[in-house]
Amino acid sequence: MFPKINPTNTSAWKKLKAHFLTHGSVHMREHFEEDTNRFQNFSIEFEDILFDFSKNRINQRTIELLGELAQECKLDEAIQALFSGEKINVTEDRAVLHTAVRNFSSEAIFVDEENVTPLIFKERKRIKEFCEQIHTGAWKGATGKKITNIVNIGVGGSDLGPAMVTEALKPYQLENIHTYFISNIDVSNLEEVLEKIEFEETLFIVASKTFTTQETISNANTLKRLFLASDFSNNEIKNHFIAVTGNKSAAEDFGIPNENCFKIWDWVCGRFSLWGSIGISTALTIGYDRYEELLKGAESVDRHFKNEQFDQNIPALMGLLSIWYINFHKTNSEAVLPYNHLLSKFTPYLQQASMESNGKSVDRNGDFINYQTGVVTWGDVGTNGQHSFHQLLHQGTQFIPCDFIINLKSKKEYQDHQNKLICNAIAQSEALMKGRTHEELKDSPNFLKNYKTFYGNKPSNTLLVKELSPYNLGALLALYEHKYFVQGVIWNVFSFDQWGVELGKELSKSKLDVLNNEQTHENSYASTSELLLKSQQSLKNI
Ligand code: F6P
Repeated sequence: MFPKINPTNTSAWKKLKAHFLTHGSVHMREHFEEDTNRFQNFSIEFEDILFDFSKNRINQRTIELLGELAQECKLDEAIQALFSGEKINVTEDRAVLHTAVRNFSSEAIFVDEENVTPLIFKERKRIKEFCEQIHTGAWKGATGKKITNIVNIGVGGSDLGPAMVTEALKPYQLENIHTYFISNIDVSNLEEVLEKIEFEETLFIVASKTFTTQETISNANTLKRLFLASDFSNNEIKNHFIAVTGNKSAAEDFGIPNENCFKIWDWVCGRFSLWGSIGISTALTIGYDRYEELLKGAESVDRHFKNEQFDQNIPALMGLLSIWYINFHKTNSEAVLPYNHLLSKFTPYLQQASMESNGKSVDRNGDFINYQTGVVTWGDVGTNGQHSFHQLLHQGTQFIPCDFIINLKSKKEYQDHQNKLICNAIAQSEALMKGRTHEELKDSPNFLKNYKTFYGNKPSNTLLVKELSPYNLGALLALYEHKYFVQGVIWNVFSFDQWGVELGKELSKSKLDVLNNEQTHENSYASTSELLLKSQQSLKNI
């Protein structure tokens, strides 16, 4: 196991503090004026992705010091531990091998002395064969019809990843396959989907690693009830329901036979599970071969992350730059701004990856932390955001580093739209960086000058992606996953557990008993018991 190091005790941290005082606020305009090679010095090309980090409040020394911090916190050993299957998720006693499920080399990876590579290959083959069965029509619904609707029932990591990828890769969607996602326990979500499907042409995927998640199991049970109420028999559940789970026996109790169950191992963390069987809805939507391309794009970034020096390593730099802002400039949030409408679910996906992973306040030694860890990850697609929250990014008092994600290629006949999109994104990053001074406002009336001034010096990264292909999307996602891993290592937190979601789950159970009138009232704080009581009383009158 890699050492548990409090980052604030490292000499690099102290040097970074001093460096921040002398260099942290130097205006980026000065950096660009001083160094005509700044773009070349602070950008990296990796396959179809160009990572430009020149619009950051950094110089060569900042990168050196961040590199030293990574060395002192043993990031190299941590990366090694991640890929080799060490049980780095200590509080749950699990390895963390989402990288293994997108690995195509036959290299052996051991968990509890078992080589898991053949298991992964076997499961992948099953997914491939299953996709073929659905797409050729060999798999038939109970009335003999071909499956044309795919409904994924899951929440959190069992929903966000596949929902985001399926949306992002819409241009690759197979004809005659329509895919829907039900995640919310709010029945409007379920009803919305029900309006669009016929049971006899529908495959329901109950996607739940634990098969105990209230939202998923309630939605699955309701759909099963409605299915059986529409003249289908228990015996026909197998034609229309499959499961992706680590809890086969619960799926079997639900009525899904073993041969309809795809495996999710406990060493695949839920929020990074789209690369394994949880991705089955994606594979069914875009076809198995395209789905493999997605995995291969991510696998390629894994090699980059494992092998490159930190100053040439995109995810390492993304993570370290973020530490520079969070811990030294004291920023509280990061914006991710994809200039691609198909990436509307990208930032919500990253929210789980980032905030569920690193929203922690106890370190790997079990001690409470006295430095900042995970921040709010937020954002929306460009250019829509420009007409809402960008005002605050430009002239607000908050300091919010941004990532611009731009893809270049669009359908030929619409390239003019795409060109406008690209230029808007580049213009935003420039405006944030350079701002606008009083001197540049010489034609404005004096009283307006302060209002029209932009201080600038607002940092951003730009990820320029040739086109949003399955391969490139896979690569992009892996860059962010590893960014959050790097942060977690430096902050010395366990990034792959999520104890913070448990308390709310437990508390909601006893409240449900009150609302269902199985318990008269709950002894709790005034606000809680009154809210429950009022809800209970109102419901009685409905
Ligand atoms: O409540 C959070 C969480 O545990 C996530 O970490 C996970 O992705 C999600 O719930 C769904 O869990 P499951 O796949 O077991 O239904």
